[in-house]
Amino acid sequence: MSGKILVIDDEKTIRWSLGEALKNQGYEVDEAENGTEGVKKFMEDPADLVVLDLKLPDKSGIEVLRMLREEDPALPVIMMTAYGEVETAVEAIKGGAYDFLLKPFQLEKMKVSIKNALESSRLKSELDGIRKKERDTYNFRNFIGKSHLMNEVFRKVTKIGESRASTILIQGESGTGKELVARAIHESSRGVDQPFMEINCAALPENLLESELFGHEKGAFTDAKFKKKGLFELAEGGTIFLDEIGEMGITLQSRLLRVLENKTFRRVGGVNDLKVSTRIIAATNRDLLKAIQEGNFRSDLYYRLQVIPIYLPPLRDRKEDIPLLANHFIDFFNREFKKKIKKTSPEVEARLQAYSWPGNVRELRNVIERAILLEAEDELLPEHIPVEMDADEAENGGAASGNDMRGVYPMSIRDMEKLLICRTLDETDGNKSKAARILGISRQTLREKTKLYEMD
Ligand SMILES: Nc1ncnc2c1ncn2[C@@H]1O[C@H](COP(=O)(O)OP(=O)(O)OP(=O)(O)O)[C@@H](O)[C@H]1O
Ligand SMILES: [Mg+2]
Repeated sequence: MSGKILVIDDEKTIRWSLGEALKNQGYEVDEAENGTEGVKKFMEDPADLVVLDLKLPDKSGIEVLRMLREEDPALPVIMMTAYGEVETAVEAIKGGAYDFLLKPFQLEKMKVSIKNALESSRLKSELDGIRKKERDTYNFRNFIGKSHLMNEVFRKVTKIGESRASTILIQGESGTGKELVARAIHESSRGVDQPFMEINCAALPENLLESELFGHEKGAFTDAKFKKKGLFELAEGGTIFLDEIGEMGITLQSRLLRVLENKTFRRVGGVNDLKVSTRIIAATNRDLLKAIQEGNFRSDLYYRLQVIPIYLPPLRDRKEDIPLLANHFIDFFNREFKKKIKKTSPEVEARLQAYSWPGNVRELRNVIERAILLEAEDELLPEHIPVEMDADEAENGGAASGNDMRGVYPMSIRDMEKLLICRTLDETDGNKSKAARILGISRQTLREKTKLYEMD
């Protein structure tokens, strides 16, 4: 338990006993013996939660409550009242108190109330934070790309957002923008005001991951002292983003598969079926087909997730996006570091284009950030782009693997055709006659296909 609690009560024994009990639980505790002192202490060093007596020598508890919540409108306050003051207690709840307890109260009840109040206030501020961050960082304005390949991704994202599609699998190398896409889908969907909950499947051991996802009942296992909601419940109506799904343990994969199929789940140790009402977006940079062959990923789960696949092409396959992205990041870091670096020059662009970007957009972003922060005065020069890049350029003969299809499959023939057409159009700057010639089909056929795939 962590957090700072301020106890405001004129009864010394209560301040003392409550203080001791809470300190034992790991909280930091401060106390005040009247309203004026309490408010003063709070202004000097705000607490995360206040336990407040309704009857104080100098001010009424209601008045103190009002003053505290003026300072911090989200502050959880637990009121204590003696028997016979129940009407005022109702007034306190209306004034925004989280809970009230009758004196003399059981210590155990107080502890539970404090724990719940802190948890819900933390969750709320976390959600507010996440939503704000989403709005600031993740929308189409910040989702850059003009290549056919990326247009195809944008189109798909918008379509999925408008649809009721419930399971989406995003694949692509590291740094290609999988998380960005997951958030963009959430942003463009109806549940946009609902939470976006993200969990990294590689970060937790299997049993912890399970209770994070599905929650648990009180007593389900040794440490389960309280009932806990999982992400499937917390994200109700919104989106769950299962990042690095390829790292999920095989047992939990089975459980997830059942949940996806039945659209219901149970808390760990629970007996009630709860309905799944969230969109599930999974992402991985791992080759799942290979993982299946090696026995590390369930093929049935793969096909269940793969209903709507999104493939993010590596940056080396959409080089026309590089200058656009570079200038986007220059703008961004200009703002961040209060600089005024000009847009990229043709020399810098040539250098950026010649590299194969194994770390994809993230690597490009990092290179620009470092150059702006450490080097550039008012213009980015080729020498600001780290030298190691030359070796790579030589190795790849400059034409860094433009036609490399590694990492593209698994995909359907239809998607493959789309991809092929996209790449050829990118290659020919959108010139359809040229593209048709390269593809060995008539202009007419190409026109039909671009129409069919809504590529125009
Ligand atoms: N099309 C894009 N436009 C603007 N920024 C992008 C684009 N694609 C990726 N980025 C930026 O590149 C960085 C990496 O993207 P993101 O975290 O989404 O990659 P990822 O595919 O999830 O990578 P990993 O597999 O390593 O988790 C982020 O800072 C993201 O904002
Ligand atoms: Mg990621």
